[in-house]
Amino acid sequence: MISPLVVHDISKSFGSGDSKVLAVDRVSFQVEEGEVVVIIGPSGCGKTTLLSLLGCLLRPTSGEISILGEEVTRLSERRRAQFRLRHIGFVFQSFNLISALNATENVEIALNLAGMTGAAARRRVSGLFELLDLTQRASMRPNDMSGGEQQRLAIARALANRPDIIFADEPTASLDSRAGRAVMELMQSAVEAGETKGLVVVTHDMRILDVAHRVLAMEDGVVREVDAATIRRAQANLAGDAGP
Ligand SMILES: Nc1ncnc2c1ncn2[C@@H]1O[C@H](COP(=O)(O)OP(=O)(O)OP(=O)(O)O)[C@@H](O)[C@H]1O
Ligand SMILES: [Mg+2]
Repeated sequence: MISPLVVHDISKSFGSGDSKVLAVDRVSFQVEEGEVVVIIGPSGCGKTTLLSLLGCLLRPTSGEISILGEEVTRLSERRRAQFRLRHIGFVFQSFNLISALNATENVEIALNLAGMTGAAARRRVSGLFELLDLTQRASMRPNDMSGGEQQRLAIARALANRPDIIFADEPTASLDSRAGRAVMELMQSAVEAGETKGLVVVTHDMRILDVAHRVLAMEDGVVREVDAATIRRAQANLAGDAGP
């Protein structure tokens, strides 16, 4: 069986000379079919850069990424954009919604680009909006929506084309615990149903560790695999220490 994602020794640096930043430093890991992988790490350690490389939004300085057996790092810019549209769902940390379009149109545009139009597209949008509790916001512009609503809209757009793999950057950061659980369950259920073959989530939200098959800890651009149970225990101890 082909692994949905194989990352081999990728690095990404920005700038040059004294101002050079090595944001991702020789990272390798793999996501097997049906797996949820969670990446944790402090601010600035390179999580968004890593996810952008995986999501074909940035090209690594070196190393290879294979998604569904396709070596995406070798594709031309145009082929990579097509591959992204067809196979990848990406939830941006900063949402990246189009402010001139209303909520429905923000999702419809993604469907239209992938070839779904008219009534079929409208049905898909209303189904997603129901699941994500956005029906009442369908004709609102992103700037008039709350942070949590914008986040759920960004998730609706990422899921719209039933992507083979989902990369989600802090998808629960603006949500309360109930809404956070709901969006995680939605993404997880796409994986469990086999509709999506893998999910990689960057998060500070320790509750998400509960759904992780594997946890990667990132620090200064370097990734290592850690035991989720150990992290949960450490968290519980910290919470205990902080108590009365
Ligand atoms: N386009 C860019 N040009 C120059 N430096 C960049 C660029 N993007 C990221 N960096 C640098 O790379 C490093 C990693 O940034 P990144 O955004 O990946 O971190 P992060 O782990 O996602 O942080 P946060 O948790 O705050 O979102 C930082 O030092 C950042 O300043
Ligand atoms: Mg980030």
